[in-house]
Amino acid sequence: MRRKLIAGNWKMHGLGADLAEVRALIAAHPAPACEVAICAPATLIHRLAQACADSAVAVGGQTCHIAVAGAHTGDISAAMLADAGAQWVIVGHSERRADHGETDAIVATQCRAAWDAGLFAILCVGETEAERDAGRTLDVVGRQLANSVPDGATPHRLAIAYEPVWAIGTGRTPTADQIAEVHRFIRAEINARIGAAGGQGIRILYGGSMKPANAADILAIADVDGGLIGGASLKADDLGAIVVAAEAAAQARI
Ligand code: PGA
Repeated sequence: MRRKLIAGNWKMHGLGADLAEVRALIAAHPAPACEVAICAPATLIHRLAQACADSAVAVGGQTCHIAVAGAHTGDISAAMLADAGAQWVIVGHSERRADHGETDAIVATQCRAAWDAGLFAILCVGETEAERDAGRTLDVVGRQLANSVPDGATPHRLAIAYEPVWAIGTGRTPTADQIAEVHRFIRAEINARIGAAGGQGIRILYGGSMKPANAADILAIADVDGGLIGGASLKADDLGAIVVAAEAAAQARI
């Protein structure tokens, strides 16, 4: 039984005052029946960790450098994230792949760096609209999985997030059948790669315009083990409603 996982991705949003939303989330959901994490800008990690101390909410970063330390002005290593209080990190988000030229090979090395620092990695894959229109979705996702998931993946240190690039921040989402097809494919690829004993335990999250209004439907789809949520993770009420939807979806599957 895979525990549902709801991870917020604050992207380049969030000042100290916004930690009030996290405190409100914790107050409203002190003991969620799913795992909850918030991946914040690096500048907030330490304060977020303080706000989440003794709560069920885990703290994550949004990317990490491939090296532990070095002459890389402006970059942040996985060890630094861990030192600041993070237990999680997102790697391979499509915005990083597009804005910072992070290739599959770089993402694989970042993921390994995250593991070496003791962090749990959420590794993102997903097709662009042009790739979907060309019927290449499974090819693209398969290539990203093959080349950006390092050897040594286990359910204790990796979740995969399927995030169609065209659904991120657009208010558009794939159909339930489209999500089911890609999640089934990802499960089969991971099982083939690491064996079903581990592969069946790895959480596969959906990301891209998930919000309170569609969360219950998406989280009910087979092999959807949670969500990676951008815009709707910034407000306690919205993220809280998605947590409640995840709790209900987990209950319905028992
Ligand atoms: P969105 O972002 O929920 O705002 O679409 C999701 C993501 O990019 O992780």
